[in-house]
Amino acid sequence: MNTEIQKRRAGEAAAQHVEVGMVVGLGTGSTAAWFVKALAARGLHDLRCVPTSEKTADLARDLGLTLSTLEDTPRIDLTVDGADEVGPGLALIKGGGAALLREKLVWEASARCIVIADHAKVVPVLGAFPLPIEVVAFGHKTTGNRIADVLADHDIAAPARVRQADRGLVRTDGGNLIYDAACKAIHDPARLADDLKLITGVVEHGLFLDLADLAIIGTDDGVETINP
Ligand code: A5P
Repeated sequence: MNTEIQKRRAGEAAAQHVEVGMVVGLGTGSTAAWFVKALAARGLHDLRCVPTSEKTADLARDLGLTLSTLEDTPRIDLTVDGADEVGPGLALIKGGGAALLREKLVWEASARCIVIADHAKVVPVLGAFPLPIEVVAFGHKTTGNRIADVLADHDIAAPARVRQADRGLVRTDGGNLIYDAACKAIHDPARLADDLKLITGVVEHGLFLDLADLAIIGTDDGVETINP
């Protein structure tokens, strides 16, 4: 199994869904990068692209795509983005690349969303991939404790850990921190999503529920599609 080829196939297939004149949301991550490259290669006229991270903005700019912002183009026709896990009903975990807040803002502003992924991302139950939770830096340890309380209420014993990089705590494009919750299995994603949002210091979490309209999954033989 060649994961990178699968990601590339999914990204290239998704680029075929873009039409002239569209406002397109550009996801973040290695799979979304294949989509951005394939989209640029199509050379479609009159596209305006809203990136979900500074990293994607840099890539799209380098490839000659016309960038816009959610402020200038608040209605997006189609967003294509990767995911860390694709579960039943196209419930997703996202945020492995720490871009989940901007991603969710762009997804929610989109008439249609396509998630692209390699085959290993498709899972029967969400939660093996640690759930990213974006929190404000002020009082983040208190917020981390409150997250742990919510997780315990969901019979999830593992603590959420603040994400570290070589040079210290990881900061999102918005200047916030990320806690990763090693849930193992999330049996009621909708209830967990609601409960996490009730914590004051939580800005957003990586559960993307009822947002994806189609999944394009790269395989060793080509691509497969999954509807919600
Ligand atoms: C970025 O924050 C994430 O939501 C990514 O879309 C997700 O982590 C998938 O990334 P890869 O395509 O690199 O696996």
